[in-house]
Amino acid sequence: MPTLSSTGYRFGLIGYPLEHSRSPQLHQAALRACGLPGQYELLPIPPDEVKGLARVIHALRTGKRHGINVTIPHKTRVLAWVDELDPAAGAIRAVNTLVPRGGRVLGANTDAPGFWEDLVRAWPVWADGPARGLILGAGGAARAVAYALLSRGWEVVVVARRYAAAQQLLTDLSAPPERARALDWQAFARGEPAFGPEPWLIVNATPVGMWPHTNASPWPQHRAWPTRGAAYDLVYNPRVTQFMRQARAAGLPARDGLGMLVEQAVRAFVLWTNANPTCVRKAMAQTAGLITAPNP
Ligand SMILES: NC(=O)c1ccc[n+]([C@@H]2O[C@H](COP(=O)([O-])OP(=O)(O)OC[C@H]3O[C@@H](n4cnc5c(N)ncnc54)[C@H](OP(=O)(O)O)[C@@H]3O)[C@@H](O)[C@H]2O)c1
Repeated sequence: MPTLSSTGYRFGLIGYPLEHSRSPQLHQAALRACGLPGQYELLPIPPDEVKGLARVIHALRTGKRHGINVTIPHKTRVLAWVDELDPAAGAIRAVNTLVPRGGRVLGANTDAPGFWEDLVRAWPVWADGPARGLILGAGGAARAVAYALLSRGWEVVVVARRYAAAQQLLTDLSAPPERARALDWQAFARGEPAFGPEPWLIVNATPVGMWPHTNASPWPQHRAWPTRGAAYDLVYNPRVTQFMRQARAAGLPARDGLGMLVEQAVRAFVLWTNANPTCVRKAMAQTAGLITAPNP
């Protein structure tokens, strides 16, 4: 456990821009619920401000900061600054959580376990054994989702408008070729068969459909939806996206990414404080509006 000053834990989020982040609300709620003193601050660091990253790492090494979340555009950049990586961050090559460890800094990725935890909490059937996942997008979040599925023996297809990015993603994750395939977006939109029998878990890991462009969907207009499976949208603003509406109209259950946002935050908070995950999850889920607070 880190040494605390009289002001308690000092957590923060680095990235740019940060105005719309919900992380401060979630972590402040967890601090209150666990009876821990502290604060969670937004620490905007513009893309080219290397000194800002150096300052944050120094603060973690010297005990002046007790935990940091990392978002765009620094998730990959901080790889060069950390002393060790957890297995998920090492495989995905992206860090979303920095944890002080006795003068050293651990880079962790809680997006991958956060996605999986929310998926199987919502739909336990997907935990029954390896299945098939179709991932739209090949950015940082797609990497986390692909890692979560591939490491559990799933077959995965990554559809991206930059085919090379999808291929690179699979190479970086050492995805076994018999279980992994990159697919060009145009070919997918034209109806090229993706892979084996249904059910498929279809994951939107692009920002398409996010507020304010709420009428947009990444699902190609002329492509039929599978008849069995489910749709998971990493977007959580709005809570019901066009992608989710389309999936439901095709008879598939659909879920947004707010639960994943909460789960990745729970894991970060527990890594920093060792607090009880059940208590942390309840506080964060209530704050996010996923569960209703009991009447006092
Ligand atoms: N729920 C959660 O906890 C959670 C966690 C992480 C991320 N997310 C959400 O996931 C989404 C992706 O985040 P990220 O960090 O992976 O972003 P990213 O690294 O910028 O990657 C975005 C991916 O989407 C693709 N893309 C963007 N616009 C597209 C379009 N119009 N058509 C097809 N593909 C398009 C990009 O392709 P190009 O490379 O060709 O541009 C890229 O492959 C965001 O909405 C983010 O908020 C949610």
